[in-house]
Amino acid sequence: MTHRIQFTAPGGPEVLQWVEADLPDPGPGEARLRHTAIGVNYIDVYHRSGAYPVPLPAVPGFEAAGVVEALGPGVTGLAVGQRVAYVDGPTGAYSEARNHPADRLVPLPASLSDEVAAALLFKGLTAHMLVRRVWRAGAEPWVLVHAAAGGVGLILTRWLAHEGGRVIGVVGSEEKATAVRAEGAEAVVVVPRGAAYDQLAAEVRRITGGRGVGTVFDSVGRDTFEASLDSLAPFGLLASFGRSSGPVPPVNSEELGRRGSLAFQRPSIIGHIAKADPAILRADIAEVFAAQTQGIIRAHIHGTLPLREAAQAHALLESRATRGALVLLP
Ligand SMILES: NC(=O)c1ccc[n+]([C@@H]2O[C@H](COP(=O)([O-])OP(=O)(O)OC[C@H]3O[C@@H](n4cnc5c(N)ncnc54)[C@H](OP(=O)(O)O)[C@@H]3O)[C@@H](O)[C@H]2O)c1
Repeated sequence: MTHRIQFTAPGGPEVLQWVEADLPDPGPGEARLRHTAIGVNYIDVYHRSGAYPVPLPAVPGFEAAGVVEALGPGVTGLAVGQRVAYVDGPTGAYSEARNHPADRLVPLPASLSDEVAAALLFKGLTAHMLVRRVWRAGAEPWVLVHAAAGGVGLILTRWLAHEGGRVIGVVGSEEKATAVRAEGAEAVVVVPRGAAYDQLAAEVRRITGGRGVGTVFDSVGRDTFEASLDSLAPFGLLASFGRSSGPVPPVNSEELGRRGSLAFQRPSIIGHIAKADPAILRADIAEVFAAQTQGIIRAHIHGTLPLREAAQAHALLESRATRGALVLLP
């Protein structure tokens, strides 16, 4: 018998319930993991709230670190007792233990603690995708990062700055601004919770000498969409990769042309993981681990909570109270 967090209908954080569950032996190609640290990601909120519908009942969670407890038939290359982590579906990481496809498990280097791995893997891999596959590094030096003090945001800011990007971070408080500057942002714009983003583009133009930025990384969505487009230099790219405030409106291609031959992209780490050659994914993860170990990026843990208090973690994340990542401990 094991425990997990489950919801039977979409809703607020209170739908997350601590339940007992049977865990069968791992099937062919699977390994059973005893989780040690579980990463909380905003996509877990979208699943729970119904913004991204999932089959019910559902156990949230896309990433965790843990120890291999048992191997199913046909599994090679893994050993019982080995420290591993994973980032992908099916959801189910909010659990004390689970069975997972063995070929999706990544051995953890000794240099990374389980908690850091759980704070790093999903968010670092997303930042890696944005820096290596989305950012038009050569086009314009200035780049705008929304939610720059978030779990993804702090890693992304530091990585962009390391690669020569002149980062303007957008955050909700002065305290968060300090954290973002410490990761290498050249400028930070504070838009407090509840305030409109209507002055943001003018501020970005002031900072960039009127030019605007080459790329906007926007994970906030509905509330920031217009300001993001208005902040771009001609031929700039709006990389819309999240919707914490709600979905973006349909994109009008003619309008993109009128506003400066702009480009719109919707990067998705889930889509990338699903379609990428496994060898490429392994190389990406290795680069994320190496970047963390070398200090090029830093996973920030805002705090840890017991797994059974997952509802509290979601409430914190949605209230914009966190700086960096939340990690659940089984
Ligand atoms: N496309 C992908 O592949 C991918 C992968 C990973 C994450 N994401 C997206 O990236 C974003 C960040 O994820 P995360 O897990 O690292 O979360 P996070 O950034 O730690 O938390 C969200 C932050 O967004 C800001 N925010 C602004 N308006 C908000 C609103 N109305 N409601 C809630 N938050 C608001 C808040 O920062 P301030 O208070 O500073 O404004 C808040 O702290 C999410 O939108 C997520 O969906 C996308």
